[in-house]
Amino acid sequence: MNCARGFRLLLVAIVILGVSGLLASRAADSSAQTPPTQLPGHNALLMGADWYPEQWPEERWEVDLGMMEEAHLNVARIAEFAWSKMEPSEGSFQFDWLERAIRQAEKHHVAIVLGTPTAAPPAWLTQKYPETLRIESDGQRAVHGNRAHGSVTSAKYRELCRRIAEEMAKRFGHDANVAGWQIDNEYGYGQMSYDPDARRQFQQWLKAKYKTLDALNEHWTTNYWSQTYDNWEEIPIPVGPHNPGLMLEWQRFTTYVWTSYQQNQIDAIRANAEQRQFITGNFMGYGFDPIDHFVITKPLTFVAWDDYIGTGHLDPDTNGISHDAMRGLKRENIWIIETQPGTVNWSALNNSLNKGEVRAMAWHDVGHGADEVSYWQWRSALNGQEEIHGTLVAPDGKAEPLLAEVAQAAKEFSKLQGAFQDTRVASDVALLQDYESRWAINWQKHTDKYDQFAILKSYYHALRKISQSIDIVSPDVSLDQYKLVVAPDLCLIPKERAQHLEEYVKNGGHLVLGPRSGLKDEFNALLPIRQPGYLADTLGGQVEQYYALENAVAAGGSLGSGEVSVWAELLKTTMPDAEVLLRYGKSNGWLDDQPAMVTRKYGKGRITYIGGVLNDALVNDAAQWMAKSSGVSAAFGPVPDGIEASRRVGPHGAVYVLINFGSEKKSVALPRNMQSLLDHHETKQVELPQYGVAVLTEAKTN
Ligand code: GLA
Repeated sequence: MNCARGFRLLLVAIVILGVSGLLASRAADSSAQTPPTQLPGHNALLMGADWYPEQWPEERWEVDLGMMEEAHLNVARIAEFAWSKMEPSEGSFQFDWLERAIRQAEKHHVAIVLGTPTAAPPAWLTQKYPETLRIESDGQRAVHGNRAHGSVTSAKYRELCRRIAEEMAKRFGHDANVAGWQIDNEYGYGQMSYDPDARRQFQQWLKAKYKTLDALNEHWTTNYWSQTYDNWEEIPIPVGPHNPGLMLEWQRFTTYVWTSYQQNQIDAIRANAEQRQFITGNFMGYGFDPIDHFVITKPLTFVAWDDYIGTGHLDPDTNGISHDAMRGLKRENIWIIETQPGTVNWSALNNSLNKGEVRAMAWHDVGHGADEVSYWQWRSALNGQEEIHGTLVAPDGKAEPLLAEVAQAAKEFSKLQGAFQDTRVASDVALLQDYESRWAINWQKHTDKYDQFAILKSYYHALRKISQSIDIVSPDVSLDQYKLVVAPDLCLIPKERAQHLEEYVKNGGHLVLGPRSGLKDEFNALLPIRQPGYLADTLGGQVEQYYALENAVAAGGSLGSGEVSVWAELLKTTMPDAEVLLRYGKSNGWLDDQPAMVTRKYGKGRITYIGGVLNDALVNDAAQWMAKSSGVSAAFGPVPDGIEASRRVGPHGAVYVLINFGSEKKSVALPRNMQSLLDHHETKQVELPQYGVAVLTEAKTN
């Protein structure tokens, strides 16, 4: 080897080691430990199925578990709707069958997650205690048998839920083959009961929070429409549009009630179970809104969610947003405790995912921080509402064609699990999500075209392409680790939140606020200052007026040129060093030639305000500019369109997942020689057909 080449190689090696060392130490800073999603004594990556042994004769279990083992599945979630089997009559608990299922699973190296069955109370229960059934907002009592019909505020229901959870935990809280617990299922979709007792509880909760009616009346401006309350009993449960302060508190109360419903069962389990058994819930991804997930997930060991496509195919951005948002709830790895085995039964068109797509989706999950993927479900009951949902095993008890693909992915998970041990996603860019702001905007959209998800997705798409890694987190957590933080429409910015965000900027971060930011306070009341409210001085600019647009408006400036549609805010600079990057073209007269985007250096960082919903061209320009001005670069390196690159980082360096979601075969030139783990070779290039996957680490340096 000639000297110059040797020296260059040495330099490259130093840079690579330096970069991965840096990344590793960053990840190590956030937590040097094994993520709670990676269970001691188990593979770091797991794959499983949701299995319902109670629906089948016991003689069949052996066949099912044998098939699972053969397919390299190592987890089964069971029992989550089996209340009538575990407590067939009040106070009579029958767990022997469950014990036998768990023992048989153990024999086949299938670890068990036990679901508490409280989303499906038995008929004897709702018949004997009718108050346990929810009252709908139209006054009708929920009908038994469709699950999620229990009343979350009913004391009797909670008592019975606690008891079944407690009895289960007493029996299985020390079971070596029970890895953990899932509480309830999807938390009744956040549905509330509209009965007098629920209303009384809401009023008491308000009283504890506001202390005096004067305070409540003031914050809700109840002089408007004679809403003033003279005693707590007068306060209604809002149905349909109502006072924005009341609506926000009802949603907070909904969150509180479901969180305490969850806690009731956590307490029962924790008192009887070993610490090593995790406790999680089954959440529903980004945009499942009735409950503030930042609050409800706090007491859980980690977040698990159920990932379904429904109609169509996997869009890595749409699905990536949900993964990243669920991971952002606790800023920790996640489980996909249910996912689509090809097809569902509840969508407008229940098409199947293409051949290869399910495997690609499993790896996409891992790339975004999942350490477990479970298919819902193993085999469907021969009757029941979900008879024709997709499964891995057909009604005849034989494998569906998809099982082979799942088995391939499961085998790969097992083979490569070591590379993912102790790894996490580490990003330089964060998008902010705030349930309360989302509710506030959705209740008063002002134009039905205002689509918060579409706006978030436009930024996600453009920024992920550049950075290849994004976190979606709460505005109230520490943001110091991010070079760039984008809040597409953070409507509620109370004083404390503003101070927190200002600190971030002052310390060197770049905060970008989108339209409708900083309009309101924590009571969903308008701030008596111009947007972005308490951040207007930091920005050196403000919003003069907002407009719901009938037609798109041209916009251009040093940033680029394109269009603003749906929503436009007329901005004004108030400090000489605030810079205008975009102006509106001809529009309604008010907006013509006025600033649409303003930026200002502040402290060691920068704050930017974008007043309109930008079209894709402008979002791309904005993303390029944001990345450049904030020093954001790609986590992996350049990849062709259609290829999704993700990175996880651990104490031993980075591991990358590349997936081709495009329809054409693609050749990807790697930024340097790398180790391709699925096919065991060192390479500088990978060929990826549609749904092709490559898992890469740095090449060995010796
Ligand atoms: C949800 C539920 C499951 C099942 C699936 C069907 O995620 O948690 O019990 O109903 O949907 O897609």
